[in-house]
Amino acid sequence: MVVRDIHKFDDPYFEEFQRLVDRRGTGCKKWDLLDKIFGEHPKGMLPFWIADTEFRSPDPVIGALRDRVEHGVFGYPVRDGQVSQAVAEWWGRRHRFDVDPRWVCHSHGVMGGIAVSLRVFTSPGDPVVVQTPIYPPFRWVVENNQRRLVENPLVERDGVYRMDLAGLERAFRGGARAMLLCSPHNPTGRVWTREELREVAGLAERYRVLVISDEIHGDLVYPGDHAHIPFPSVSPWALDNSLLFASPSKSFNLAGFYTAYAIIPDGAKRKAYEAEMNRLFMDQGNELGQVAMKAAYLEGEAWLNGLVRYLEGNRGRAVEFLRGMRGVRVTIPEGTFLMWIDFGGMLRGRGLTAGEFLKGAGVALNKGESFGEGFELYGRLNFGCPRQMLDEGLQRIRSRAEELGLL
Ligand SMILES: Cc1ncc(COP(=O)(O)O)c(C=O)c1O
Repeated sequence: MVVRDIHKFDDPYFEEFQRLVDRRGTGCKKWDLLDKIFGEHPKGMLPFWIADTEFRSPDPVIGALRDRVEHGVFGYPVRDGQVSQAVAEWWGRRHRFDVDPRWVCHSHGVMGGIAVSLRVFTSPGDPVVVQTPIYPPFRWVVENNQRRLVENPLVERDGVYRMDLAGLERAFRGGARAMLLCSPHNPTGRVWTREELREVAGLAERYRVLVISDEIHGDLVYPGDHAHIPFPSVSPWALDNSLLFASPSKSFNLAGFYTAYAIIPDGAKRKAYEAEMNRLFMDQGNELGQVAMKAAYLEGEAWLNGLVRYLEGNRGRAVEFLRGMRGVRVTIPEGTFLMWIDFGGMLRGRGLTAGEFLKGAGVALNKGESFGEGFELYGRLNFGCPRQMLDEGLQRIRSRAEELGLL
């Protein structure tokens, strides 16, 4: 794969993404819980963990929120049909998936909706498949709801992760009721191809497994060889037997609103999901989140395209830098602003986990072991930040490795 390193280009949004906004003291997890979670560092820790970015949301989103806030009265809202329309249009325009606005259901964050779905469509003790290494809440949502976690590890060769379809078939044959599909995949950044997704759909059809597809990173795919394929669109069976969850929270940096949605084409499944949301008094979204989502989808696409170009430049920069460090292997993300890094060649036999090494370097990355067993020498880097911050983080990693004589 060609990794372009775009340092500077003629882009109306470039300077905006270059600016580091001081988020400290705003109650954000990434900066305000940094020392508590990762410990202190003489230079001050730099955060590259949790998956939000350092960027201000697009001006039209901030403008829509400002207008609504200035009105000053925040009573109970009606669920705005225009929001479902905006979601449907977004998927049609950006991902060529023809969505009927009636398929769009509210979800309190993506994970909230996945938890509700597991409770509606599976029973305690039912096996649920995830593909490891995996975003840690995928394991928690299964186990905390008393379902049985079945791991179907991805297979890595030369830094590329692929699905183990034979293993997936064994898991399905063994009685799996549901699969949590992460598409694009966090932490490896894989953007599954149509063929791979068709294989999954074929197996799910054969063994009657419900696919719950988390497509929260779907807007953030690097152009060229890759395009995001919505899982329900890969076959007629998939359309009726999967639930798609997404939100604008990664693409437009709106995670704080917990405003997400499910796309559930099948009427009976939609009814069952909505009935449970209603029983839980969770069927109404928060109003500012809806305002932000609508503005993002209706007016934010040019900004988002600028963001993807900026992130592509960051990706190239980080890959080039890390490849220059002996014993460090990177998985090149095809989508997402996350990079899965294997420090094994550098750290094995040195008595240090990647987390300990990185802490000494003064950078906070998500620890490999939280994504699955055996990943103690891995870390996940969030490169959704201004270049200056990314460069400083990368340099800190290198300097620490030199200091310890690891290179
Ligand atoms: C794959 C994936 N799903 C879900 C989430 C969380 O979504 P939410 O905050 O809407 O529950 C994240 C956040 O990092 C994620 O990476």
